[in-house]
Amino acid sequence: MKKLYFVIALALVLTGNTSAQKKKPVQAPPVKPRNEFIAELLAKMTIEEKIGQLNLVSIGFDVTGPIVSKNVEEKVQKGQVGGVFNTFTPVAVRKLQQMAVEKTRLKIPLLFGYDVVHGHRTIFPIPLGLSATWDLKAIEQSARVAGDEASADGLNWVFSPMVDIARDPRWGRIAEGSGEDPFLGSRVAEAMVRGYQGNDLKADNTVMACVKHFALYGGASAGRDYNPVEMGERTMREVYLPPYKAAIDAGAGSVMSSFNDIDGVPVGASRRMLTDLLRSEWNFKGLLASDYTSLSELIPHGVAANEAEAAALALIAGNDMDMVSEIYINHLPALVKEGKVSEQAITDACRRVLEAKYDLGLFEDPYRYVNEKRAAATLMKAEYRNIARDIARRSFVLLKNNNVLPLKKSGSIALVGPLANNKRDMIGNWSGAGDWKQAVSVSDGLKTAFGSAVVINYAKGCNITNDAQMLARLNAHGGEIAAETRGEDELIREAVEVAKRSDVVVAVVGESQGMTGEAASRADIGLPGRQLDLLKALKATGKPLVIVLINGRPMTLPWENENADAILVTWFAGTEAGNAIADVLTGAYNPAGKLTNTWPQHVGQVPLFYNHKATGRPFNGEQLDKYKSRYMDLSNEPLFPFGFGLSYTTFSYGDVRLDRTKLAGDATVAVRCTVTNTGKMDGEEVVQLYVRDVTGSVTRPVKELKGFQKILLKAGESREVLFEIKRSDLAFWNIDMKLVIEPGLFHVFVGGNSRDVKKAEFSVE
Ligand code: BGC
Repeated sequence: MKKLYFVIALALVLTGNTSAQKKKPVQAPPVKPRNEFIAELLAKMTIEEKIGQLNLVSIGFDVTGPIVSKNVEEKVQKGQVGGVFNTFTPVAVRKLQQMAVEKTRLKIPLLFGYDVVHGHRTIFPIPLGLSATWDLKAIEQSARVAGDEASADGLNWVFSPMVDIARDPRWGRIAEGSGEDPFLGSRVAEAMVRGYQGNDLKADNTVMACVKHFALYGGASAGRDYNPVEMGERTMREVYLPPYKAAIDAGAGSVMSSFNDIDGVPVGASRRMLTDLLRSEWNFKGLLASDYTSLSELIPHGVAANEAEAAALALIAGNDMDMVSEIYINHLPALVKEGKVSEQAITDACRRVLEAKYDLGLFEDPYRYVNEKRAAATLMKAEYRNIARDIARRSFVLLKNNNVLPLKKSGSIALVGPLANNKRDMIGNWSGAGDWKQAVSVSDGLKTAFGSAVVINYAKGCNITNDAQMLARLNAHGGEIAAETRGEDELIREAVEVAKRSDVVVAVVGESQGMTGEAASRADIGLPGRQLDLLKALKATGKPLVIVLINGRPMTLPWENENADAILVTWFAGTEAGNAIADVLTGAYNPAGKLTNTWPQHVGQVPLFYNHKATGRPFNGEQLDKYKSRYMDLSNEPLFPFGFGLSYTTFSYGDVRLDRTKLAGDATVAVRCTVTNTGKMDGEEVVQLYVRDVTGSVTRPVKELKGFQKILLKAGESREVLFEIKRSDLAFWNIDMKLVIEPGLFHVFVGGNSRDVKKAEFSVE
């Protein structure tokens, strides 16, 4: 039956590409039910063919590790490849897929994966920016658009969402996640999975999600990428694991195991993480792929002496697919013969690869995602650019505003800074299929918004970095940073001249995209190069100073906060960055984003996060009280707390009212708070609910986010916001590592950020 289908499909394919372009004609009678179909297929497979399915190779241009896969086409035709990544477009995908379904004995189609991290062709803000919208519908929509574009471009699998909790802004990959909070991170993870996968993985416009990097990758010590993670089990379960679990419970089809070592065991070799936790405890049934060469990296980690040992460890730990190392394909056949790994383990891993392909509908139609017409009609369509613009402006966080924003619609602006007239950096990192040349610079966005009403005087002001080695490294990996021949003092002087003849200064400063993302940790998280000198020189002109920050991490900005008149955080905002920034600077959109990380005053405070423990000696402000948990040379306070962000209007919070002070049985606590827009503009506010469990069998965080609502209030309008706290919301891992709710006193806080809150309390019986 299946054979017949393949003959029909093959004939249709060979009669011309049109068969692959039009969806329907290829549809053979639907394949058998999943279990039956896969059992029959597995029964026909040789051990080599099964191992071939476990091989995930890169063919294309993006290299994120030391090696690139070799002879991919040849291997595909020999049935030695189960999936490829870094290849897209219907033409390129069809070519490889044809090799798989026409040249191999069992005609098993390939998976086509790619790092679609914040948009595919139409680029959205980096994930950290997306999280700052606190708008789950918008986040889901960004993933839906990305999934539609990716699938129109031949892909069926995206290496996203990245849900690693990160508390250390030195870590470059903080840009790729949703910040420091497990509750928010979990909601974002679910929204992304829904957006990519929709309700039907078989539909030609949905793709399989891959939750990464399992697990705890964001806990890299000292914020240095690939560094080991030292973490107690309770922190792991309460803070770092929930987003992976949430994504899996939302139905994510696949998971990627991470590079890092956890307490002495690299995840690639960790049966505890990959099998006991992920499979047995969480009941994850999907596909588990390794990260890029992470399996052969078990050798430098020091837990395997050679590739064969690494392959055995990795398979036994639970990795189904080997990304790029090719140690499975090279060593598993002999390992089975030697009895060092069981054939059953290979069959189980292969089954999961085949199940993913089945679920994606690839056995019914291997060309399901190969359709030039759909690609032409879908990729970067105007509607998607508009959505990207709207979501970008929602991601911006206003940190300070002395009434200088929105800008006046007359007079003149000095537009300065190394990122003011820049397109490359706008789309950020992990935007491989994005075309930065189609991105909108801040300069172009402002010119379009103001037309001839405002004179814009431009000067670059300084370089993004003056570290020659850093520059060389950035440019070696697509930095596109032009070398400036004029000296920096001259550039600053020119910017000062421009500022003097303008009414207001808009300084677009920050990081280059390559300073964040993978392998892009920074020890100093302030403005790189001479940018601070530039700002100081601009400040000295006495002109109002607006900072537009382009960034992929929390940054230390104490001088900037003290001296600038306004600071707007805009991340790497994507294809429509410049237009979205102009929307906010002109007041066409009132900013409402909120930080999803705590921003430190100084890198020496790192890791600094809001949901910390109290310690036995909390500092209470008594300066001469020596023996308290504090620094001698700096306060404990962050520069900006988690959840913080201003608006062009203001909000006031009424008292927090509870419908009961004792929680018993299955009841819930209703928490009410009236929020009023006390300013003159309509605006959105993210109302946040935090809880503190005052006494437990183990120490509990001083605050934990348990709910949030983003509401739109007209100028002068008041609204009562209602949250329900369920008993299960109060559960934690107790002294015996059991998930329990312990009776006692709880504090409830409601506010517009994690610091400025109103409080009430109740007790659990
Ligand atoms: C990264 C992953 C990515 C993979 C494939 C790795 O270096 O850690 O996030 O999905 O490369 O490009």
